[in-house]
Amino acid sequence: MDLHQHVLVVPCPAQGHVTPLIKLAYSLAYHGIKVTFANSEFIHAKILDAMSDADKEQCPIRLVTYLDGLELHPDQRTGPGLMDSLKKVMPDNIEKLIKQINQSDNREPITCVIADLTVGWSLEAASKLGLKQVAVWPAGPSCLALALHIPKLINTGVIDENGSPIKNELIRLSEEFPVMDSSELMWCSPVTAQKFLFDISLAIKQATENASIVLCNTFDELDSSSCALIPNILPIGPLPLVKNLNPSVGTFSSQDLTCLNWLDKQPSNSVIYIAFGSTAVFSQKQFNELALGLELSGHSFLWVVRSNIVNGSSPEYPDSFLERTASRGKIVEWAPQEQVLAHTSTSCFFSHCGWNSTMEGLSFGIPFLCWPYFWDQFHNKSYICDKWKVGLSLKYDEDGIISRHEIRTKIDCLLNNDEIKTNGLKLMEDAKKSVNEGGSSYENFGSLIKYLKA
Ligand code: UDX
Repeated sequence: MDLHQHVLVVPCPAQGHVTPLIKLAYSLAYHGIKVTFANSEFIHAKILDAMSDADKEQCPIRLVTYLDGLELHPDQRTGPGLMDSLKKVMPDNIEKLIKQINQSDNREPITCVIADLTVGWSLEAASKLGLKQVAVWPAGPSCLALALHIPKLINTGVIDENGSPIKNELIRLSEEFPVMDSSELMWCSPVTAQKFLFDISLAIKQATENASIVLCNTFDELDSSSCALIPNILPIGPLPLVKNLNPSVGTFSSQDLTCLNWLDKQPSNSVIYIAFGSTAVFSQKQFNELALGLELSGHSFLWVVRSNIVNGSSPEYPDSFLERTASRGKIVEWAPQEQVLAHTSTSCFFSHCGWNSTMEGLSFGIPFLCWPYFWDQFHNKSYICDKWKVGLSLKYDEDGIISRHEIRTKIDCLLNNDEIKTNGLKLMEDAKKSVNEGGSSYENFGSLIKYLKA
């Protein structure tokens, strides 16, 4: 009987991290690698809840759990509390998990750990047990390049030892990088979380330097200058275009599929899709402006409104907004995003520019309206608008609000901009080439499989 190489895949317990790692896991399984996928118990329960019976029956990977250390403090499972706990417990808990798996499965023991760089300390367990180690960076390569450049930024007086910009100036890592404002460095947004985000950036830098391979959901032609600054990077994306993946598995909420029937009934290229990922939140005032901006635009829209989108709780819509827009608006709690972006009725993507959303929009050649919220999303916005020129960004007014008028104006500008549409379609073609036989990501994935099977 053929024995398989066996990898343990470990994502950071957040939607934007589980999504790409589960796709990677499915793809490895398709290539004959045995995959065990480890989530914290809390996330595991959410994923199982959202999976259909068919998904469970056909799941080609084994889903297992580890403890995140917050069993007695579940209220701390967001932000700094979670990361502090994971840092403390993950090396031991992942080591225990590997030993347990190997005891019960001694014919095919784990030979490699593939871990998200954001929880790079799970690779410590692999190192201790003498296993192969592969890291995954679920965001864009420019942000990783930036993390690797932290010492240089300190030495040249751009930031201090805590990551604070010393001067309010424009920064550029090299000629090919878009210029960015120092306040938009990924650890500076939002400024209240700077220490926490800077510490994470330093841990990511350390884990990158320790890893022999860093997989990234990008393709070389998209941002070769950032990739060139990361010696061990292996771009294998865009994952949304890699064949044989099951996009519905790994979500924390059930997808509302009724929006696909609704899209089928709309004219081609007529619907604005609005979705801000899994964590972005708005004030009630800003939420109202967004609703009124969509109404003012006069276009049809499909809007993902999570139940916690207004400062963690349910939003209230402006008076009679739902009635006034009922004939041209569809609101869902969680959409099958990739299918929506691939749908011919979708005209543009109003997005927070999370990296998965960015790669998904690029994969289907959709123009972006960018409204970044935190962390890497400001960098992604700069690439979308200034380097690839496939989108537009919005301006805050003097009260720190993006007004309904700004939203309406930018939607009009975006939908009338042929250059942006052409650039998007060109990038989509490049992306397809990269994952098809002979393309750069296709070849890189082949190298990964060779490494794992060696
Ligand atoms: C987070 C960070 O915000 C992001 O910047 C980082 O790069 C990864 O982790 P998140 O905010 O959730 O992720 O955004 P994003 O990276 O875009 O991931 C969201 C995922 O949820 C996407 O794969 C998207 O397709 C999916 N999604 C979103 C749905 O399936 N349905 C929805 O309705 C909305």
